[in-house]
Amino acid sequence: MPSVEIVAAEKIGLEELLSLYHAVGWHAFDHAPGKLMEALRNSTAIAQARHQGQLVGLARVVSDRVSICFLQSLAVHPEFQRQGLGKALVEAIFEPFPLMVRALITGTEPAQRAFYESLGFNDPEKTLPEPSTVFLRHY
Ligand SMILES: CC(C)(COP(=O)(O)OP(=O)(O)OC[C@H]1O[C@@H](n2cnc3c(N)ncnc32)[C@H](O)[C@@H]1OP(=O)(O)O)[C@@H](O)C(=O)NCCC(=O)NCCS
Repeated sequence: MPSVEIVAAEKIGLEELLSLYHAVGWHAFDHAPGKLMEALRNSTAIAQARHQGQLVGLARVVSDRVSICFLQSLAVHPEFQRQGLGKALVEAIFEPFPLMVRALITGTEPAQRAFYESLGFNDPEKTLPEPSTVFLRHY
């Protein structure tokens, strides 16, 4: 399996990042690639996975380092999916943030739900020990 490590934003290039994003069908930053790099630099922590130098996986979190940690932009290149890499990236990126609420927003694909449920994430209404409600507002 490709190696997973926590890295500084400067270790990741724009072209390889866009290439990974395109491989998983993400194009939201195509017209503002500078914003993608800004988001990367402003992240609290970044985990990458490389195979023979190629960027094949990425996860990043935004956190206050005390109470909450948001997972953002988890992507595994399709050629490397279903090999445990997504799980390894999530475990690595959350490892420095114990005892916090871990939150994320994902799509509606059954695979996305299956993946996060396999890692112990659940709907907020079912979250123990304290059932919760999540509100979102899109600007
Ligand atoms: C979601 C994603 C990150 C999962 O990465 P991955 O490396 O394939 O996941 P893993 O191999 O670590 O899977 C761990 C477990 O999750 C579940 N799972 C993962 N993908 C699944 C799928 N397509 N269908 C059903 N269950 C799935 C399985 O239980 C799996 O364990 P198993 O393979 O032993 O059965 C990857 O599919 C991806 O990058 N998708 C496109 C981008 C995306 O949707 N990102 C998440 C939303 S931000």
